[in-house]
Amino acid sequence: MTGSIVNSKIIISQSADELSENFVHLLLNGLKGSKENFHIALSGGSTPKRVFRYIADNYKSEIEWESIKFYWGDERCVPPDDIESNYKMSNDNLFSIIGIPEKNIFRIAGENDPAIEAVNYSNILKGNIPEFNGIPRFDLIMLGLGEDGHTASIFPDSLNLFEEKNICAVAEHPATHQKRITITGKIINNAKQVIFIVTGSSKSGIVGDILNRKNDYGKYPASHVNPAQGELIWMIDSSAAGRLNHSND
Ligand code: 6PG
Repeated sequence: MTGSIVNSKIIISQSADELSENFVHLLLNGLKGSKENFHIALSGGSTPKRVFRYIADNYKSEIEWESIKFYWGDERCVPPDDIESNYKMSNDNLFSIIGIPEKNIFRIAGENDPAIEAVNYSNILKGNIPEFNGIPRFDLIMLGLGEDGHTASIFPDSLNLFEEKNICAVAEHPATHQKRITITGKIINNAKQVIFIVTGSSKSGIVGDILNRKNDYGKYPASHVNPAQGELIWMIDSSAAGRLNHSND
């Protein structure tokens, strides 16, 4: 765990646009390096909105979208038109603007029975993404970070999901008890590249604990992200970086 953080790269941006531009460069590098399809798991919540909108507004015709297959790291168990839906957020801020073909979008069906959908989505991943170590290997997984140290929908009170034997599982938000479908640590740590995108001063405490390895950071699911044969990058803005030790600069 310590190694993963020591091995991770930290990119601090001074603004949301600079962070988005830095993200696009990493995406373009990944695309250059990929032979055929590029399989990316999108993160949810609010942070990615600005990144998706920046990409849609500035890179609509610069990226070969046909070769990118879109998945999610997690989804709320709600219909796709629900304001809570990570699919809806991605569609409103990216897909609907650049016109991604439906066949390139592999949505988690939040409207389905959670236990059934966790199995369904595992099968979708297995049926579409090339394997490595016997399980699907994403080219890129985007992750967000909650103030409680959760990532995807793996919350501190269900840290066991990180070690879950299946690649997808049913999770539950600890406060709202909203059911979620989430990918698990097994597939996260099998990825070629994992990029955390974290912004805002409200995240500076948790970012400081995890990247400075303080305050029993192992209790935070995000601190277990450690792609053994992949690259881990923390993309944070200057507000979220407020509590980083200088040695991490
Ligand atoms: C979700 C996410 C979750 C999110 C963090 C940060 O479905 O909510 O996948 O892991 O990335 O909670 O959310 P914000 O970007 O809204 O702070």
